[in-house]
Amino acid sequence: MTATTRSALGAPLARLEGPQKVTGAARYAAEYPQDDVAYGWIVQSPVPRGRLTAVLADPTVESVAVLWHGNAPRLAEVEDPELAVLQSDRISYRGQVLALVVADTLEQARHAAQVLRLEIEAEEHDTVLRTDHPGLYTPETVNPGFPAESVLGDVEAALAAAPVTVDVTYSTPALHNNPMEPHATIARWDGDSLVLHDSNQHPSGVAATVGEVFGLPADQVHVITEHVGGGFGSKGTARPNAVLAALAARVVGRPVKVVLPRQAMFSMVGHRTPTVQRLRLGAEPDGRLTAIEHVAYSQTSRIYEFAEQTAVTTRHMYAAANRRTGHRLLRLDMPTPRWMRAPGEAPGMLGLECAIDELAERLGMDPVELRIRNEPTAEPETGTAFTTRNYVECLRRGAERFGWAGRDPRPRQRREGDWWIGTGVAGATYPAMAQPSTARVRSLADGTFEVAIGATDLGTGARTVLTQIAADSLAVPADRIRIRIGDSTLPKASVAGGSSGSASWGWAVTGACRELLASGADEATFDSTELVQQQEKEGRHAFGAHFAEVRVDAVTGEVRVSRLFGMYAAGRILNARTARSQFLGGMIMGMGMALHEEGVLDPAAGAWVNHDLAEYHIPAHADVEQIDAEWLDEVDDRINPMGSKGIGEIGIVGSPAAIVNAVWHATGVRIRDLPVRLDKLLVAGRDEAA
Ligand code: MOS
Repeated sequence: MTATTRSALGAPLARLEGPQKVTGAARYAAEYPQDDVAYGWIVQSPVPRGRLTAVLADPTVESVAVLWHGNAPRLAEVEDPELAVLQSDRISYRGQVLALVVADTLEQARHAAQVLRLEIEAEEHDTVLRTDHPGLYTPETVNPGFPAESVLGDVEAALAAAPVTVDVTYSTPALHNNPMEPHATIARWDGDSLVLHDSNQHPSGVAATVGEVFGLPADQVHVITEHVGGGFGSKGTARPNAVLAALAARVVGRPVKVVLPRQAMFSMVGHRTPTVQRLRLGAEPDGRLTAIEHVAYSQTSRIYEFAEQTAVTTRHMYAAANRRTGHRLLRLDMPTPRWMRAPGEAPGMLGLECAIDELAERLGMDPVELRIRNEPTAEPETGTAFTTRNYVECLRRGAERFGWAGRDPRPRQRREGDWWIGTGVAGATYPAMAQPSTARVRSLADGTFEVAIGATDLGTGARTVLTQIAADSLAVPADRIRIRIGDSTLPKASVAGGSSGSASWGWAVTGACRELLASGADEATFDSTELVQQQEKEGRHAFGAHFAEVRVDAVTGEVRVSRLFGMYAAGRILNARTARSQFLGGMIMGMGMALHEEGVLDPAAGAWVNHDLAEYHIPAHADVEQIDAEWLDEVDDRINPMGSKGIGEIGIVGSPAAIVNAVWHATGVRIRDLPVRLDKLLVAGRDEAA
């Protein structure tokens, strides 16, 4: 074939649905017109712990139904207890849904909900994560199934013998993944079949789970998820809105729409657990690590054990003969934490990469050089070979592109006017995963090809990239591919999560296309399950290096990120435009983690008080000054047929540490509890001056 048809993969093809989105023609879950639709408004618990004994509706206020555990139909128990909505009198966290008011209009539903009287027997609650809490325990495994502890050699002996050591504790607050499009569902029953327009990252998963809740086989639940306005992990599985809409639709015999109000997103759909992380490092004077210990504390709810894998990433980063990682978990009267972009890696690499920076300071060594000196030759804990590992190259090339050479390693050396200026670096890694998926391709009479797979596009460009993969596999131009995704009735695809979408779905699409060409038939289906399951899981990671330059106002403590740069080695880049956008988005989210984002807990109320986007701060355009991402020309043929690794999450791994390290370099102040805020810098600066 010609060079142009071959170049579909990697080309900066614009998002296929872009025009639809900017003209408003693209429909999101809550936007499908429905005859006779009723509106559900959720009522959330005002207390973190207790019992709901009665719900009293105001008889003068109109509504179609008021559902609560006293009158709601019974649901089947499923693995996720958050889906057992309106089933029990037990209140396990503030913000738990206690009732659903259904009315003819949204306004009526909201008003009826506002005047609803809840009778609650409140109980004493406990909502604060502390490292000396007697309730802390070691979970059997951490997500998504790793051992909670790992030990190699003798960390205590190595630390005692090490000429240079670091012993630091870093903490991160609760973080909230709030996609622009809130969680939303329209549910409609058609006899015993259920149709859901639902915003999620996994239509077939939602169909299976909601089916289970209502005792239906998955093929009697049709989930339509054409466009999704972001998920960041919070839409990876069915959320309570899907069950509530379906439940209400069954009771009232009409389609019901449930859209979560923004404030409910802070408690009902998951968040990133706060963490406290203790890191102990031992090194020789030449920088070689002899001991690494990373112990992470995090929280979960009373109803579900969600164990964030915070310290797991440390198992893959640096060589050292003596090592230990561990996790301690605490159950609190708080909402269940769930998946949030780079769960585990984002907070864990903050701890590790800041500790490494502190070690560089102790050693008087350049932090890029220190990392290079501790590059392992294989997986540090298992000895498994890496398929490709270009971390050192990311550090070197990134340093070059950023202009790192000649940096004075001492802090508080550069000042321009009122600004202290500093630079920082941090490493990044994210596992390159793939999951079983099935795709179907049909050759159509008009010379085009229909490619069908039940994948979802969260706004990342998945639809576009799959089109490129199919075009490349069939050796035709991209405009001859008609891609169909976003529907649970299409061939079954894995979740749009774990940075594994393109790898998993692309594998199935490639397989189907190759089979079509080989068979000469006009339809082929390919299921990647067997191939994916045969694959070794260890030794497969994308890598990166983040560089930041900050300036800190000497008078006010204000931090500005003047430059943020990421250099990645993430296998073949399938679409230069959408990949760059993914990297930048991750880095900006990392900036939010370093400087802005914080769920502020009021222990007395057992609630995050800043549960809206006015008070929960995220970076705005004005916060992003110079930001750029580049990547190495890496192709990893041992990972999948495209040679690609995941790119959706690695941008948020390491970028917060690069910024925190740069703040230290600018000011000489180590802020170890995130986010770095001006009040912390001013207090610490004052203590230092005194
Ligand atoms: Mo992402 S937290 O793997 O959806």
